[in-house]
Amino acid sequence: MDQAKHAEPGLLVLGIESSCDETAAAVVRRSGEGVPQILSSVILSQHEAHADFGGVVPEIAARAHVSHMDHVVARAMVAAGVDWRELDAVAATAGPGLIGGVIVGLMTAKAIALAHGLALVAVNHLEGHALSVRLGAEIEFPYLLLLVSGGHTQILICEGVGRYRPLGATIDDALGEAFDKTAKLLDLGLPGGPAVERRAEKGDGTRFDLPRPLIGREGCDFSFSGLKTALRKAAREAAPLSEKDIADLCAGFSEAAIDCVEDRMRHAIIRFRQACPAVSAPALVAAGGVAANSALRRRLAHLARETGFRLVVPAAELCTDNAAMIAWAGAERFARGHSDGLDFAPRARWALDAGAGAAQTGESAP
Ligand code: KG4
Ligand code: ZN
Repeated sequence: MDQAKHAEPGLLVLGIESSCDETAAAVVRRSGEGVPQILSSVILSQHEAHADFGGVVPEIAARAHVSHMDHVVARAMVAAGVDWRELDAVAATAGPGLIGGVIVGLMTAKAIALAHGLALVAVNHLEGHALSVRLGAEIEFPYLLLLVSGGHTQILICEGVGRYRPLGATIDDALGEAFDKTAKLLDLGLPGGPAVERRAEKGDGTRFDLPRPLIGREGCDFSFSGLKTALRKAAREAAPLSEKDIADLCAGFSEAAIDCVEDRMRHAIIRFRQACPAVSAPALVAAGGVAANSALRRRLAHLARETGFRLVVPAAELCTDNAAMIAWAGAERFARGHSDGLDFAPRARWALDAGAGAAQTGESAP
């Protein structure tokens, strides 16, 4: 074994992420006790390449990943100051996501694994988000997870690595998608979520009467399409839109969406208590791109205080897509004896609750 591996016990993992419009690579160390350390994290965003189209164009994304992947990986390795021989494994997002990008990242990881004799770990992107909180805080399983990204909106109980119990999910749009469509409707540019958040901070959320779909209903499912339609109608009626109108529409949308999340999480908290009665100081975790939203964080913090939960949200740069979370999920899996063959096929769809290594399912892709 290599000298460096003796000097630093634990695992050193290179992670690769390319499932949407970020080309990213990171090197993460997991100590023998499971303590994480991010040695490097490089993220190259393609927002400008998609700006003229009002959304991510899969073909453009795939080509951009091909162009940038090699130097992003090289930069991550140099920034971490590690040699290929020191790595234990290479982890890559193997789905769900835009298939062209997933193929680029997974193929790159396979080539690196083959060339340097490393283990390959095929990571479910959603598991990357689900475990990202353990990169920055000591969180024991089980915890209650709100996973809100551009392609997914789910509530799960994280029982362990590879063990996720679903409580609810969106029946139509994902929350991030709803933010992005609001931004597109109001011509605010990409990425939509932060643009809507900035306008919402200056707006009056009570001016427009917008619906809160599914509030008060049983269960933990979400629906945002009715809110989207109502917002479009309100925008049409208020046109031509002033800056004030736009801020008020953003605030109205944001408050309505966050009201929905709060209501669904109240139900989820009751279910978590029933499912895990022995957990005395439970954690409520929010992850995925939308968890970077400050208004959502404030509302969840309030809810957690009221219900005896501890709110833990990863730093904003670990909420949006990054490769540190993929390296970390890979390290967590590898530490438990999981690795994958070089024939592992990329997956456009891959439900988290099907088990991280389970067969392809009907989960919708980002
Ligand atoms: O997790 P992520 O980076 O990519 C996916 O896996 O989908 O999430 C991206 C989503 C986008 O829809 C983006 O608009 C949203 O997260 N987002 C936000 C914020 N930052 C990113 N939504 C609301 N507020 C934000 N500050
Ligand atoms: Zn994501």
